[in-house]
Order: sequence, then structure tokens, then C-alpha cells
Amino acid sequence: MPELQRNFKVKFNDFMKAGDVSIQIQSILKAIGFDPDLIRRVSVCAYESEMNVVMHGGDGDVSLIVGPKDITVHVRDDGPGIENTEQAFQEGYSTATHEHREMGFGAGMGLPNIKKSADTVEVNSKKGKGTHLKISFNVE
Ligand SMILES: Nc1ncnc2c1ncn2[C@@H]1O[C@H](COP(=O)(O)OP(=O)(O)OP(=O)(O)O)[C@@H](O)[C@H]1O
Ligand SMILES: [Mg+2]
Repeated sequence: MPELQRNFKVKFNDFMKAGDVSIQIQSILKAIGFDPDLIRRVSVCAYESEMNVVMHGGDGDVSLIVGPKDITVHVRDDGPGIENTEQAFQEGYSTATHEHREMGFGAGMGLPNIKKSADTVEVNSKKGKGTHLKISFNVE
């Protein structure tokens, strides 16, 4: 049984609300009183994956699950999926559009930063089938 579970919706292309979910996750973890560095790592991962849903994915949702020994963030979307996930995790790889780049996105660093910041990352994605990221953090 998780100690806490919260679910949030993310809307494709909604740049007005983009980032709100990760801010909410950050404040929930702060209220619980987790270590600031752990909160920072979870927030980075939540933010980068939320932005990827908004920019590259489709409508989706984020679940935060706080257990006794770990924090898990599930990020799902019903978008086009990722054809080559190995390539997507490489630094600098990006299919961001001109508009995304004008807003300051598209360095191709989101997924690599998620990988660096989390303890484990599992990605499940197929072309045309949407994307599911499971991002976990150990809590000592
Ligand atoms: N949810 C997703 N659905 C479909 N494709 C995705 C998704 N997330 C990532 N990708 C693909 O993986 C690529 C790399 O993602 P990554 O987050 O590393 O970089 P970026 O979003 O392009 O740029 P940055 O995150 O640095 O602003 C994206 O450009 C996109 O092609
Ligand atoms: Mg990104």
C-alpha cells in the first residue's frame, strides 16, 4: 500500500499550464519533509517528463506514489510514442520544432537529465502507442 498517491492530468500543447504538475509534486514532497536534494531530483524528472508530454506526446497523466522506501513518478501519454528510445536518451537528440526552440526547449537534455537524476528509469513506448515513463527514487 502506498502511503500517498496523487494523479494529475497533463494537456498536450498547453504551454500556459505546462510545469504546474511538477510544482505541485514539489510542494507535496516539501510538505512531507523529504531531503531537499531528493526533492530537487524528483522535481527535475517530473518537470522534464511533463514538458515532454506537452511538447512531443499527447494528452496524458502523471502519478506520484510515495511509499515507505521509494518515490515513483509514472508519466503516461497517448501521443505518437518514441520509435527509438535508446536514441531519445542520447544527449543532444531532439525532434523539437522551431516554435519549441524559440521558447528555449529542444536541447535534447530532458531524458538524459531524467536518467542522471533518478535511481531507475523504465521507458515503454512504441510508435503510435504513446509513452510510459516509470521514474523511481530510493528513500533511505
Ligand atoms: N512523451 C514523448 N512522446 C514522444 N516523443 C518523446 C517523448 N518524450 C521525448 N520524446 C522524444 O525524445 C526526444 C528527446 O527528448 P528530450 O527530453 O531529451 O529532449 P527535448 O525535449 O527534445 O529537448 P529538451 O528536453 O532539452 O528541451 C524528443 O525530442 C522527442 O523526439
Ligand atoms: Mg524534453
